[in-house]
Amino acid sequence: MTTNLQAYRGSLLHFLADPAFSDQSHDWHEDGLLIVEDGKIQAAGDYAALRASLPPGTLVHDYSGKLLMPGFIDTHIHYPQTDMIASPSEGLLPWLETYTFPSERQFEDSAHAANVADFFLDELLRCGTTTAMVYCTVHPQSVDAFFTASEQRGLRMVAGKVMMDRNCPDFLRDTAETSARDTEALIRHWHKRGRSLYAITPRFAPTSTERQLQLAGELAAAYPDTFIQTHVSENEAECAWVRELFPNARSYIDVYDSYGMLRPRAMYGHCIWLDEQDRRRMAETQSAAAICPTSNLFLGSGLFDFERADDAGVLLSLATDVGGGTSFSMLQTMNEAYKVARLKGSYLPALRMFYLATLGAARSMQLEGTIGSFAPGAEADFIVIDPQATPLLQRRTSRSNSLEELLFALALLGDDRAIAATYAAGRQVHVRETT
Ligand code: GUN
Ligand code: ZN
Repeated sequence: MTTNLQAYRGSLLHFLADPAFSDQSHDWHEDGLLIVEDGKIQAAGDYAALRASLPPGTLVHDYSGKLLMPGFIDTHIHYPQTDMIASPSEGLLPWLETYTFPSERQFEDSAHAANVADFFLDELLRCGTTTAMVYCTVHPQSVDAFFTASEQRGLRMVAGKVMMDRNCPDFLRDTAETSARDTEALIRHWHKRGRSLYAITPRFAPTSTERQLQLAGELAAAYPDTFIQTHVSENEAECAWVRELFPNARSYIDVYDSYGMLRPRAMYGHCIWLDEQDRRRMAETQSAAAICPTSNLFLGSGLFDFERADDAGVLLSLATDVGGGTSFSMLQTMNEAYKVARLKGSYLPALRMFYLATLGAARSMQLEGTIGSFAPGAEADFIVIDPQATPLLQRRTSRSNSLEELLFALALLGDDRAIAATYAAGRQVHVRETT
């Protein structure tokens, strides 16, 4: 039997557990070797220990001096908002009206959708993100364009058609029935086809009728291994609007709960204005929170409370929320997550931030063992990080005295320039151009 065996030498880091709750959270090999066979991890460990296991003549790619780690996972991002990133507005609701809805209208055109999907995916790969949970638009063809582009690159991506049948412009409105029919057809076509996975995607409670949420919940029950993604408790004006629209609900998240949408593989964006009962309910249903610091600071939405979320045991991960978010880079997302935590009186070690962007996200998505780590058999989505990518990084990282200090400098100072290469299923899908 012939197999495709590849080996990569460099400093190796991946996670085994959440550093906030375990003393043995990670596996670190300063001089490490990563062995990849047919797109899957075969082994990860010390170079000295593993080199003898390589068949004679195996090519070893030398990334000495650089870090190899699992590709980043961004658990909440909007591909149709790529071209409107960094649009000025005084808050979420006017920003949606002024910029978001007109941009999303253009995705009626499949050629436009394909063009943006290509750019979007290449930008993610430049930033070292190999998996994302992606909102498309209300148009089913926007989903086809997205998965066609991610399939071409061999990426594990989660995406879905936005469901939205009220409180939005006519040109973006579906109906409860058409949205459910289109969603089901897309699930049947794309879910688990190659590396593609489907997310049932009601935009947020204010833009769905009760009937649409009910049908979304029914689909979530009928297809229990699909994902659910939506927004919750992002902004105070939005929360007040939800109280008006759903006067019988105990809270914003209770609206989703009452339609059966709290379950494993449900990803809730933002989760800022939650109460204790909301957090408890999320934890007991294994619903996950996607923390979006660059977006929350940009739109002035609020500060995520890491301490309360941890006290309740909510599944956590980091996300960019582009175009509300201001960077595609998970390193820049960590930079702002760190500062959000500081403003709330908590402290986020760098190790924890890298955990949240890899294994933490995979666990939140019930994909541990598939992505997010170098466990044997996991898919070989990994990145090569260059601690000397910029003159400043070079000076700072050459003076770091610990792994924590090295990762911290990368998180605070790094961005797409720090990603020397990106691999998906063992294949190189990005290499940084050097001048
Ligand atoms: N709430 C509903 N839609 C959106 C969106 O597109 N972006 C953000 N940040 N919040 C939302
Ligand atoms: Zn969003």
